[in-house]
Amino acid sequence: MCGIIGITRGPGLDAGECEVLDVLVEGLARLEYRGYDSAGLALVGPGGDDPLWRVRAANGTRSLDDLTKRTEGAPADPSAGIGHTRWATHGRPNEENAHPHTDCHGHLALVHNGIIENHVELSDRLIADGHHLESETDTEVLAHLIESHLAAHPDEGLAGAVRAALAEVRGAFALAVVHDSEPDVIVAARRVSPLIMGVSDGAAFLASDIPAILGLTHDFFILDDDRVAELRPGVITVTTLEGEPVEPAPLHVDWDLDAARKDGYDDFMAKEMHEQPKAVADTLLDRLLPDGTLVLDEVHLTNEQFRGITKVFVVACGSSYHAGLMAKYAIEHWARLPVEIDISSEFRYRNPVVDEHTLVIGVSQSGETVDTFQAVREAKSLGAKVLIITNVVDSSMAREGDAVLYTRAGPEIGVASTKTHLAQITALEVLALYLAQVRETLSPAEARGLLDAMGSLPDKVAEAMTRGDAVHAVAERFRDSPSFIFLGRHVGYPVALEGALKLKEISYLRAEGFPAGELKHGPIALVEPGTVVVCVATRTPVWEKVIANVAEVKSRGASVVLVANDGDEETARHADEVLWVPATEHLFAPVIDVVPMQMFAHSMARLHGLDVDRPRNLAKTVTVE
Ligand code: AGP
Repeated sequence: MCGIIGITRGPGLDAGECEVLDVLVEGLARLEYRGYDSAGLALVGPGGDDPLWRVRAANGTRSLDDLTKRTEGAPADPSAGIGHTRWATHGRPNEENAHPHTDCHGHLALVHNGIIENHVELSDRLIADGHHLESETDTEVLAHLIESHLAAHPDEGLAGAVRAALAEVRGAFALAVVHDSEPDVIVAARRVSPLIMGVSDGAAFLASDIPAILGLTHDFFILDDDRVAELRPGVITVTTLEGEPVEPAPLHVDWDLDAARKDGYDDFMAKEMHEQPKAVADTLLDRLLPDGTLVLDEVHLTNEQFRGITKVFVVACGSSYHAGLMAKYAIEHWARLPVEIDISSEFRYRNPVVDEHTLVIGVSQSGETVDTFQAVREAKSLGAKVLIITNVVDSSMAREGDAVLYTRAGPEIGVASTKTHLAQITALEVLALYLAQVRETLSPAEARGLLDAMGSLPDKVAEAMTRGDAVHAVAERFRDSPSFIFLGRHVGYPVALEGALKLKEISYLRAEGFPAGELKHGPIALVEPGTVVVCVATRTPVWEKVIANVAEVKSRGASVVLVANDGDEETARHADEVLWVPATEHLFAPVIDVVPMQMFAHSMARLHGLDVDRPRNLAKTVTVE
């Protein structure tokens, strides 16, 4: 995800108020949590004859600082401006791909947050019409598309051109456009990606979220999907894509800045858990097509190369390892390929059996974990094909791999992986189904059923997220318990491991995850009255075995919390407490079943008064061996 911001101010304001450049730079600083691969801004001079001025920098977290040092040539007293901070999804995080993007002649500038699904067909048409596109991004297409409509119908103005252009666009967008022929106008539009607007005497503002412009006003307007806004100093007008006037919903906000950065949530982990439906949906976007086929064009491994694979290795650490474990079940079941899964720091030193027919999948949200980075380098040296699954475009691992499949969860601030973990499982299951599609190990009917189930995952994750109060009550009941055991079988086992890790890392409580069938081989000695056993008991082919294991721990005095499918009273009979989740195809269940585990750990840590975003001894990215 990226951050966008814009301000237009009329000449009526005193020079010191709402300086355009200051507002843009401060706003971008507040939006950096949404991405910081690059930053850029464009200013429009007060008179219609001033050229549009643009500056961009691609220097990671120093991008914004670099911008402020490159203001030579900027209009002295601009009337409007837009800014962008980027989390790359299409195109490397370099200056050519940094927003704002312009039209062919530099009269129009545009910033965008989202993914334009049909950008290839649009750019092909625009290039055929003589447009020159400079970047690898999907966004630049929008600038040229609007340019073409403005040239065709200049009387419709910038807003009319934006409406006409967006009628041709598929995908998600929150965008802002300026043109030097209308120096105090910003045109904004939104579909799925967030966009908030504000107005004060003599100025109007827009941003990806409230914190970026909090303080300039406390009176905001929400721009609904498929709405186009024209911002003029002190005035905002909104229409539908067809040009029908509509009234935007007003929103008064009294938050302070820190609360606002977390979008009103108590901490980033809570905010990021609530971003999980979108993280899963974005990871599926333009890979799971409406006609039910999967495309992984960006992976750059041919189907021939995929068909030549005889063995798969997955290497990862922590939560990424748990995601990899889930992939083992999916790839073996659907694609009938043998999968080995290894903790990265073990893989490197055990002389693994790898050759040119091995596909090694490195899973790392940061793309910088040194254990996994070294493991994939070892795999490459042994002749394997390496596919990286990461959340950071152009990260060290992304550059090391032969192929990359990006998750699209946006930056994750909380140390505990939540939305990136769900996005990893989603990406791995897309890959598993793609391997099955290429190897023709699933019938068309089976594939169709599975792809339909996959398409419903974002909504089911959103539904699971609505149960936070019930989960919190369970955490409250067991807040003083001395130890926790997490159990699961089959794909429930990595969910159990992830549940134990989440509880350990943010609440510092003793928690271990085991395969439910392994308990009787020793770990059951840990069970005594007062032990809390959290078990994944959603419906899978091994559900009856799980219930038998639950009976074993109950008979030894444990308190049992079961993750169960909505309405499954038969399972609930075996539980002291139930964490209810929507049902899905059992190999997709981890995407949903892990959600109450995350919420349970989050509640427990909050009940213990701990800082869930910065847990002791931990770092977000482990770049040491
Ligand atoms: C999980 O909540 C932790 N943040 C940690 O286990 C993490 O998953 C692990 O360090 C791997 O990080 P990566 O995905 O960036 O490689």
